[in-house]
Order: sequence, then C-alpha cells, then structure tokens
Amino acid sequence: MDQLEQIKQAALKDLENLRDLATHELARVQHLGRGSKLSEFLRSLKDMTEDDRRKIGAAANDLRKEIEEKFTQAREKFSDATHSVRDWIDVTMPSRRPQRGHLHPLTIAQNTINNIFSAMGFRIIEGPEIETEFNNFDALNIPADHPARDMQDTFWLKKDERRRTKDEWPLLLRAHTSPMQIRFMQVHQPPFRIIVPGRVYRNEATDATHEFQFRQTEGLVVDRKGALGAPTLANLKGVLEYFFRQYFADPNVAVRFNASYFPFVEPGVEVLICGSKGKFAGKWIEVAGAGMVHQKVFEKVGYAHGEMQGFAFGMALERLVMLKHHIDDIRLFNESDLRFLKQFS
Ligand code: PHE
Repeated sequence: MDQLEQIKQAALKDLENLRDLATHELARVQHLGRGSKLSEFLRSLKDMTEDDRRKIGAAANDLRKEIEEKFTQAREKFSDATHSVRDWIDVTMPSRRPQRGHLHPLTIAQNTINNIFSAMGFRIIEGPEIETEFNNFDALNIPADHPARDMQDTFWLKKDERRRTKDEWPLLLRAHTSPMQIRFMQVHQPPFRIIVPGRVYRNEATDATHEFQFRQTEGLVVDRKGALGAPTLANLKGVLEYFFRQYFADPNVAVRFNASYFPFVEPGVEVLICGSKGKFAGKWIEVAGAGMVHQKVFEKVGYAHGEMQGFAFGMALERLVMLKHHIDDIRLFNESDLRFLKQFS
C-alpha cells in the first residue's frame, strides 16, 4: 500500500506541472504506460497471496482509474486553453491578403473624364510632350513678340537636344495641350470631336496651387460652317455643363462664361462653375479656358478662311480632382505618399 501511495504522489506531482499537450503525453506514458511503476506493480499482483491480491489489487486498479481520469481531465484543459503549437495553427484559415496596387487618383479621374466625353462621341487623342515652338505658339496665333508667351514660362530644350536642321523649329516641353489642335487638324478634315488628355509643363515656382508639371484635357470640335449642327458657343456651354454635372455627379452644376483672352480663340472665355457639392458649393470657381477657334488657327493648318467653325476648351485635371475631393495642395499628387494615395483605391 505504501508503494501505491508513492506511485500516486509521483503522478499527482507531474500532473501539476504539465505545460502543454507534449509534456502531458510524456507524463501519461511515464505513469500509465507499459513500463510505468503502476503497470509493473499490477503485473506483480499474480505473485501475491490470494488475500493480498484481493485487497491490494482492488486498490491498485482504483488508483489506475483515478490517474487515468486525472490525465483525461488535464488534456481537456489543454485543448481549450493552453494549446501546443501544433494544435494552435489553423491550416484552414485564409492567408494574410497581399497588398494590391491601384490606379493613381489622377488616372482614375482621367478615365472618368474620357468615359464622359466618349459617351458624347469624342475621340480620345494623345500627343507628344516634346513639342515644336510652332505647334505650341506660332500656329496658335501666338507670335514671338506676343505677351501671351510670357503668360507661360516655357521649358526650352537645349540646342543640341533639338537636333535642328535648317527648317526645324526649336523644341520645348508643351505648356498646354492646345498644340494637339494643330497636329490633329493638319491630318484630319472636319467634322470631328476630340479630347486630348496629357501632361504639360510650365517653368514656375511650385506652391500649394502651382506645379511645374500638371495635366490638362483639351477639347476640340470642328465642322464646316453652315453644316447642320456646326458647333457654336452655345453648344460649347452645353457640352461643358453636361460634362461637369457628370464629373461631379451633381445635377445642379451651373456654368458661366466670363469674357477672356486666348490668342487662338475668338471670342475667348473663362469657364466658371458653381454647384451644390464639393469645394465649389455655392461659389463660382474658374475651371477652364475656352472659346471659338480663331480663323487664323484654321488657316495655319490649311483650312480656308471662313470655311470651318469650331470650339475648343482646355482644363487642368488636378484642379478638378482637388475640387471634387477637397484636396488643398496640388503637390500631393506627385509625392507618392501612400497615406494620400490609398484614399483613392
Ligand atoms: N490652352 C489654354 C491654357 O492652357 C486653355 C485653352 C484651351 C483656352 C482651349 C482656350 C481654348 O490656359
């Protein structure tokens, strides 16, 4: 009986020190397995007298049951609280999601703009960012001594970068998308409706509202004068009004034209909008330049004077996105700061 008590105490002591399923299994085998003291004791019963066997045998079997129960209880504790590593990993759990990239807010906005104009029958045309002085200025009725050239400080390419031949024009980074009016009209005959999205460059100091690189969307609609539905200033206003209502998802956007001056349009206007949403709610904000294409521009691309009629407009992409999303610093678009960019995923 003393021996049984020792076996019991040793088992109880180990039961108290179990840490996880692995130590539990080790201790269980040690105290209940074939090689355990208890099994050895039970095997020795056959050598005892019948009297002893009855008495001690019953006590030994009771002890085995007791220890077995204690180990079973201890196991339950481990399976719902302190798990072993093997039990703790849930292989059916979905893995951690990899980070996915997404489009830049300006790309998203440009796609939206392209879709709105596409639905109105506009083609989307792109052109080079390195332009000739002719396309950027002269063909747009901005001669060398014209003050309009100072309105946009130009990035000129160095002479050797120009690879000039005698009749080639100096090269520059386009200051607006309007030179694509020239390129397109040189090789197309009206009627047509196009928009030209793209980057433009101006040699200016940067601040919250100025970048030396930004994006514009140019629009150009031309048809023969006298053609049914030849584009008018009223059409221009209607197209822009429809566009801004779609872009800002605001049916209350109103468009106003203020008289303005651009050498390549006559009359020229500044386009202002006022709506019920966004940063321009209840306020008139200038968002574009526009007007009827100047006859001198038509002549430069080879159309006869008075033969064609059309309107053009140009607007800065960043401006629209800033108004729509209450962004107060244009430089955020080019800083690659994920805290900013992720808001547009
Ligand atoms: N190109 C002008 C600018 O960059 C905008 C404009 C385009 C104005 C077309 C009139 C017509 O400011």
